[in-house]
Amino acid sequence: MSSLADLFERNRIWAARMRRADPDLFDRLSEDQNPRYLWIGCADSRVPANQVVDLPPGTVFVHRNIANVVHPTDLSALAVLQFAIEKLRVRDIIVCGHYGCGGVAAAIRGTARGPLQHWLRGLRDLYMDHRDELESMPDQQKRANRLSELNVLQQVRGVANNPIVEVAWSEGRALTVHGVIYDLEDGHLHDLGLTISRPVPA
Ligand code: CO
Repeated sequence: MSSLADLFERNRIWAARMRRADPDLFDRLSEDQNPRYLWIGCADSRVPANQVVDLPPGTVFVHRNIANVVHPTDLSALAVLQFAIEKLRVRDIIVCGHYGCGGVAAAIRGTARGPLQHWLRGLRDLYMDHRDELESMPDQQKRANRLSELNVLQQVRGVANNPIVEVAWSEGRALTVHGVIYDLEDGHLHDLGLTISRPVPA
């Protein structure tokens, strides 16, 4: 028996439940997808995109990596961005960070090695850029949480300055980039108050 027997069993039960709730769901989804949202989030198992906003399959196009980073040279993230905007024509891009992020904590400690060290370099730089503010906070957890927020704000600005997004805006498309953060302690999303829906003057 497959070691994934439990997952297959869960899958069958889930599919039956989805079909009961919405008998046409799988017929519709097998034709096409039409998601309104692009979600760029952390790979953390505790922040599953669709579940935290209670949306069914077909509604959220998702890219997740460690610490919800969009590196300007990350082909995977850029391809997602391009496909979501040019083909799927999403209307909202949500960069979602979270409190208690292990990637953010590792960037602060500066102890990561190998690929993780490279991946977290931008976050490490961001920490150094805000060192005075962050190190004035005695509570380690609050410090990490503040860096999680600063990271989301930086990623939102980066996405808004991406040529793929700029082209969409130049064509008059309605497209908004949002920065939000998820609190593991109560399951709530919070708006970080940075919402960009037109080109930012350089
Ligand atoms: Co994380």
